[in-house]
Amino acid sequence: MAPRPLIDGFGRRISYVRLSVTDRCDFRCSYCMPTEMEFLPKRDVLTLEELDAIGSAFVARGVSRLRLTGGEPLVRKGFLELVQGLSRHIGSGLDELTLTTNGSQLARFAEPLFAAGVRRVNVSLDTLDAGRFRAITRRGEIGPVLEGIAAAKAAGLGVKINMVALKGLNEDEISSMASWCGERGFDLTFIETMPLGLIEEDRTDRYLPLSEVRRELERRLTLVPLTERTGGPARYVRVAETGQKLGFITPLTHNFCESCNRVRVTATGTLFMCLGQEDRVELRDLLRSGGPDALDAALDRAMLLKPKGHDFVIERRAAEPAVGRHMSMTGG
Ligand code: 5AD
Ligand code: SF4
Repeated sequence: MAPRPLIDGFGRRISYVRLSVTDRCDFRCSYCMPTEMEFLPKRDVLTLEELDAIGSAFVARGVSRLRLTGGEPLVRKGFLELVQGLSRHIGSGLDELTLTTNGSQLARFAEPLFAAGVRRVNVSLDTLDAGRFRAITRRGEIGPVLEGIAAAKAAGLGVKINMVALKGLNEDEISSMASWCGERGFDLTFIETMPLGLIEEDRTDRYLPLSEVRRELERRLTLVPLTERTGGPARYVRVAETGQKLGFITPLTHNFCESCNRVRVTATGTLFMCLGQEDRVELRDLLRSGGPDALDAALDRAMLLKPKGHDFVIERRAAEPAVGRHMSMTGG
């Protein structure tokens, strides 16, 4: 039987879910969280069984792509077992099971992830310089991340690098990062900072519009726009000289909401209908008290709540972020 699809009030079909498996992270990237980040008590976080139940409920409703995120998903105990469990849906409803990681533990996990059916990973890497890496992540070391990326490639995983464009921090590495990725066969996506959650600094100080990133690349390369969209905020180009694919995630300068195909679940089981809005449904208690049927009914109710779009603005004087929760809650 064909699954009953999830269609929201604006006729958008939800086919992609990002599921955060933990809010914890071993890094403290300055644009993401404060130095003294307070994490959730463990009892509030979904169990592995609940994560599986929620992921599976979406697949049963026609979701074909599942991305596991964090915080940092690889610091969650039992993460591999979760992947191995969810991978039973690959080929029967699920086309793709992926993850977004900071790479710190990837060397250890690359081969088992491939064996479990994962074929691609997104790795966050904002700089290739060890000192800058330490400064941006506050406690990360670049060595293990580079080893993790190499291990992923060696294991047969497709690698996409995510680089947050940060004014005065890594803007001089745009071209070198593109070359570094190109030489290794990695796709690369540039991301603008988004006003999610309080941090210590003013995000506007680091805001670098991707139009500038693009201009910098176009001094040396020919970028051919691709029509392909993934239902997310990314736009893609192909580098004529090398064939490499580059993505640009510009939530602040472009409107992408009309083709949005995704929702997000936090590690506590809150289903957020939009990264930039508060509309939500709490799935955890429903699941605990009512089981899979209650969960399925909640997905229908949630569809009616999906807003037409976000209203992110990043402007000086705006001391408050547009959305109070950090990216590490909703997993990007
Ligand atoms: N704005 C933009 N990107 C962010 N990330 C984390 N917080 C923010 C933010 N406030 C990035 C991470 C990772 C991806 C999931 O989101 O670096 O690459
Ligand atoms: Fe961790 Fe990613 Fe946030 Fe950096 S951006 S602190 S790696 S969750």
